[in-house]
Amino acid sequence: MITPIKKICCIGAGYVGGPTMAVIADKCKHVQVNVVDISPQRIADWNTQDLTKLPIYEPGLAEIIKRCRGDNLHFSMEIEKNIENADMIFISVNTPTKKEGIGAGKASDLTFIEKATREIAKLSRGHTIIVEKSTLPVRTADTIKQILVNTKNHNPSGENPTFDVLSNPEFLAEGNAINNLNYPDRILIGGESKDAINSLKEIYLNWVEESKILTTNLWSSELSKLAANAFLAQRVSSINSLSSLCEASGADIQEVKKAIGSDSRIGNKFLNPGPGFGGSCFKKDILNLIYLCEFYGLEEVAQYWSKVLDINKWQTDRIAKVVFQKLFGTITGKNIAILGFAFKANTNDTRESPAIEICKKLMQEGAYLNIYDPRVEKNQIEKDLGKNYYQCNQNRGSWNNFDDLYLAVENVDALIILTEWKEFDNLNWQLISTKMRSPAWVFDTRSTKNILVAKKYGLNIWILGNHI
Ligand code: NAD
Ligand code: UGA
Repeated sequence: MITPIKKICCIGAGYVGGPTMAVIADKCKHVQVNVVDISPQRIADWNTQDLTKLPIYEPGLAEIIKRCRGDNLHFSMEIEKNIENADMIFISVNTPTKKEGIGAGKASDLTFIEKATREIAKLSRGHTIIVEKSTLPVRTADTIKQILVNTKNHNPSGENPTFDVLSNPEFLAEGNAINNLNYPDRILIGGESKDAINSLKEIYLNWVEESKILTTNLWSSELSKLAANAFLAQRVSSINSLSSLCEASGADIQEVKKAIGSDSRIGNKFLNPGPGFGGSCFKKDILNLIYLCEFYGLEEVAQYWSKVLDINKWQTDRIAKVVFQKLFGTITGKNIAILGFAFKANTNDTRESPAIEICKKLMQEGAYLNIYDPRVEKNQIEKDLGKNYYQCNQNRGSWNNFDDLYLAVENVDALIILTEWKEFDNLNWQLISTKMRSPAWVFDTRSTKNILVAKKYGLNIWILGNHI
């Protein structure tokens, strides 16, 4: 029998839990959506009256929060009560790479998943559908089922609860999350129970056409999420590897991109060269895939995916080297402006941002960095780079944060564009050229529109994947 879903609980109010539940609440007014988290700060931030201060910046998110919060969307730390009352529970907790123990550096750390599952097992009443929203290794649903069955339930009536477990991975990309959630390419639901699958399907049918809802077995669904991220990351590493060949050979990566992307079998999306992919998931999910391959004895397959990560690291590392070489082989005591610190545009997320590694490398060589990003706050940069001061070997580098791009470029020897923020497409290069110290260099890692205008004002330019 299909369980009609009236109350949803989502465990984890992060980049996935927050926006995903906001959209479900927006589209399903008949469902009460309770998002819970163990972090008091996260919950306080979701409940802020000043909607510009939500914990996550996503275009369109604040409007939904305004429409739904307090009505059928609630953020709280009331984990126990909301688990008890829920018909359906989404697990959207973080699944970082393990730092210690068996599989360290590759396998997913499932501590948060396990803890959340134990809470569910202890507190649930009646029948509950558990939905894996987090990205997980294949066969995690087995572990979840075992914990659910083997943990003692605290229900005073003594009645044992029952569960169905589904996999419903999330494919949203940050900066475009609301759009992706409103108009998904597909919804993937893996499971064993047809009724449970249909209950979740009913939720999505409120705004997604049926042909876009794919149902599979549990393991295909879990693996497809890792595979999708691996394929996307592989495309970025492929184009990045060619960017260096373009620089060396005189080809232009933009022309190559257009030529190969015009082949409908290849397609023109996700072919932008850059300083290396960042974000919380590509690296961790490929490491997870590699670990799984090794676990199943598929060494060659593991090595194949490892190369995607190797190229990515190599690409990030070579940016700092190029800057160093162009600035006459020394950047000690030189001022360099960093334009963009987020791992991509339209987000304030800096997790695994290539900017972090590049800034660290430049500071290790003794550079003074002026960092400007339209969305990343100073305290986040401090978490990523340490206090304003960084010391390595005998060289002393440091960084400063600027809210105004034109102040950040004052008296710098070079500026480096690291995030593809739209506002960088139309910079006042004439003004910038008067502020920089000559000979001044512009390093563009994001194929910024109109960058060649800078050349007109006497600035030296290096463009990733271009032989100028
Ligand atoms: P996040 O770190 O932003 O959020 C996770 C939240 O879970 C945190 O706020 C944490 O406090 C909370 N949490 C952890 N354990 C808890 C518990 N026992 N009870 C209550 N709350 C708990 O992570 P995220 O970026 O939202 O990612 C979550 C999952 O979704 C990961 O598996 C990730 O791979 C996957 N994913 C992320 C994205 C993305 O764009 N960030 C996209 C698709 C899938
Ligand atoms: C990615 C996937 O696109 C989502 O489908 C997936 O749900 C998500 O990971 C996840 O599982 O977390 P996200 O990391 O938010 O989303 O952002 P992307 O747009 O994929 O960009 C990732 C990185 O690749 C960024 O650093 C971006 O600058 C870089 N990138 C992307 C390029 O360098 N070139 C491109 O053409 C595309």
